[in-house]
Amino acid sequence: MCGIVGYVGAKFVDSVLMVGLERLEYRGYDSAGVATISNGELGFRKKAGKLKILDDNLKQSPLGGNIGIAHTRWATHGVPTEQNAHPHFDCKRVIAVAHNGIIENYTKLKEVLVNKGHVFISETDSEVIPHLIEENFNGDLKEAVLKSIAELDGSFALVILSEHQPDTIIAVRKKSPLVIGVGKDENLVASDESPILTHTNKMIYLEDGELALIKKDKVEVFDFTGKKIEKTVQEVDTKNEEFDKGKFDHFMQKEIFEQPEVIERILAERIGEDGLVHFKERKIKREFLAKVGKIIIQACGTSWHAALIGKFILEKYARIPTEVEISSEFRYRNPILVGDTLVMAISQSGETADTLAGIREAKAKFTKVWSFINVENSTIAKESDCAINMLAGPEIGVASTKAYTAQLMNLFLFTLYVARLKYSMSNEQVSAFALELKAIPNKIREILKQSEKIKIFAKEYAASPLMIFLGRGLNYPSALEGALKLKEISYMHAIGYPAGEFKHGPIALVDEKVGVVCVMPEGELFEKMISNVHEVKARKGKIIAIATEGDRRAAEVADSILYIPSCSEVLTPLLTVIPMQLFAYYIAIEKGCDVDRPRNLAKSVTVE
Ligand code: M6R
Repeated sequence: MCGIVGYVGAKFVDSVLMVGLERLEYRGYDSAGVATISNGELGFRKKAGKLKILDDNLKQSPLGGNIGIAHTRWATHGVPTEQNAHPHFDCKRVIAVAHNGIIENYTKLKEVLVNKGHVFISETDSEVIPHLIEENFNGDLKEAVLKSIAELDGSFALVILSEHQPDTIIAVRKKSPLVIGVGKDENLVASDESPILTHTNKMIYLEDGELALIKKDKVEVFDFTGKKIEKTVQEVDTKNEEFDKGKFDHFMQKEIFEQPEVIERILAERIGEDGLVHFKERKIKREFLAKVGKIIIQACGTSWHAALIGKFILEKYARIPTEVEISSEFRYRNPILVGDTLVMAISQSGETADTLAGIREAKAKFTKVWSFINVENSTIAKESDCAINMLAGPEIGVASTKAYTAQLMNLFLFTLYVARLKYSMSNEQVSAFALELKAIPNKIREILKQSEKIKIFAKEYAASPLMIFLGRGLNYPSALEGALKLKEISYMHAIGYPAGEFKHGPIALVDEKVGVVCVMPEGELFEKMISNVHEVKARKGKIIAIATEGDRRAAEVADSILYIPSCSEVLTPLLTVIPMQLFAYYIAIEKGCDVDRPRNLAKSVTVE
């Protein structure tokens, strides 16, 4: 969490940094700040609250200059105030530091620095960094930074700007991402590629343990002992437009509507002319996958919901016993990982700290790790034995939508791939399944056409004190995902529950004011869902059914109904989630919430 950006070149630095921060705002948005050097002097501006407040202020009175650093914050230590906003400074205000990560030993360091006379003005862990650099400065800024970072425990991506060396930004990476953009007579540095792409598509990816000196016409990289390292400049083909909302009001809305094309892209990449599934870039041997005796999928949030569905299909079709773990639990319980176990990690951002820690735990136990990520050069991609890009394209909205359906689709394809290796499915069965998958994008398009109807339902339910989401089997995780979407962007109290378990306690919550979304497509568990709906109706709960097109029985029991086109029961999670995403989106709009920047959240959760 937190986004950092730096620029040195001929352009007007306030504007480059603010446009950069806008692109990074999804990483945190409770306060922001900028520091630049103009006429050899360090100036800064910080504001609590959304980026717009800082932007308006800088527009009225810019800092100026051609070199600067900036930061958008997701608070870890200290409430979101102007004082706690980054950049932070040394006592003389000649060294500015923007930090993403956590300094675990800051209390001890602060105590020592305070005893030496340093004056702190914030409650943050980050402020120890400029004071340490000040303490260690002996005429050479790079040396002072190297000496200081040797004293820091924890994770940090840093950009440092100082009057001591006014033509240079120093960037440092340890366990938090940092990318350098190489332009013509200008260079940039940022937490990810998005703020850089407006200027250049040439990138240098810093690795853990690297420090860079960035000037307008030169980038030099060193390790933490000060030894120079030669780095390759890579050209990326991500398009700048992918970071624009286009005709949509919000990124979340755009991303919901992009889902048919995302799924078409994944299928085109993975299903060959032979009708079978291929993972050409796979780095784990086929022989190993054919022998895998157990899979443990670890993930967080929405990615964990996708994993729960992954368990169903891997066990049903590939006949591999599969466990699903929340990463923050998995990593601390000393999991038993025997020789033929494969650990799978699922992460949109590829940076989630808990999922990454789960991968490190698995690797420390010599277990192979297969990951699905959506950010090619992310840390999870680098640390896994095999990382597969889920190909959803950049997801900016904090609420995950297209990445979820992309995760599901990738899990279906992975299942078919392994099922064939294990001979639990024949080539003909795999090809027939793949054909059904190819019909999904148009079915999603049909559901998206109901968006106006969903908007009306959203108005009706926006004032409910509680929304409950019920589902069974494969659609129990869909219910969890429907509830998570609603609570994270509309702040409405919502719970997801397995419908059969509901009567064992939570049904006590139901009264005439409560809305209950019942995910009940046609299939084996439909009759059971009908019984659960009656139980809720008997307690006066209002039912919104998500059912299969033309289902009369669902229509009879429901107060409101949303349809999905008919498809095999196993594929229904790819469809049932779409109306719930739209429902959450329109409720949030109805309540006047900031859909793409929900309170207290950040897109990339890089702290534990
Ligand atoms: O980037 P990841 O997939 O690892 O992120 C995991 C969760 O933080 C994420 O899914 C989160 O729950 C979203 N806000 C859900 O919409």
